[in-house]
Amino acid sequence: MISVKNKIVFITGASSGIGESCGKIFAQSGAKLILVARRQEKLEKLAEELTKKFTTKVYLLKLDVRDRLAVESAIHSLPEPWKDIDILINNAALSKGLNKLHTGDFKDWEEMIDTNIKAYILCDKM
Ligand SMILES: NC(=O)c1ccc[n+]([C@@H]2O[C@H](COP(=O)([O-])OP(=O)(O)OC[C@H]3O[C@@H](n4cnc5c(N)ncnc54)[C@H](OP(=O)(O)O)[C@@H]3O)[C@@H](O)[C@H]2O)c1
Repeated sequence: MISVKNKIVFITGASSGIGESCGKIFAQSGAKLILVARRQEKLEKLAEELTKKFTTKVYLLKLDVRDRLAVESAIHSLPEPWKDIDILINNAALSKGLNKLHTGDFKDWEEMIDTNIKAYILCDKM
């Protein structure tokens, strides 16, 4: 089995759900984590938990992954020890609106396309 001990894992959407769970599993296995989301306080709470439980090294990025310039700048500005990312968990996503297409809200579609497609490709490219 491949070890992730001391590997740098970059997790988008780490403040809840699948991303948060991935953070816990990788922390348990000894990885170092870059945790990304918009809700800083959630990231801080998770970081505190992981540091206490597993002495995980954690770097937090409060980031809206739809903001291309902010994503580029954050990744290019990572401190030296965090620059060589080994694993990307490209997870930040959402689903909005359960309306039928003809009654749907264009803003919901835009937000989903910007997050689930455009930001996904951007994070992968970086
Ligand atoms: N849970 C399931 O069983 C399941 C099954 C199939 C598919 N999915 C899909 O998988 C995705 C994740 O599911 P989940 O249950 O983990 O959802 P979730 O708990 O709502 O988590 C979504 C994560 O994405 C982040 N995020 C959303 N927009 C962002 C943005 N613009 N910039 C940065 N981070 C952003 C959120 O962080 P912030 O709000 O803090 O930014 C949050 O951490 C969703 O699209 C869901 O539809 C889930």
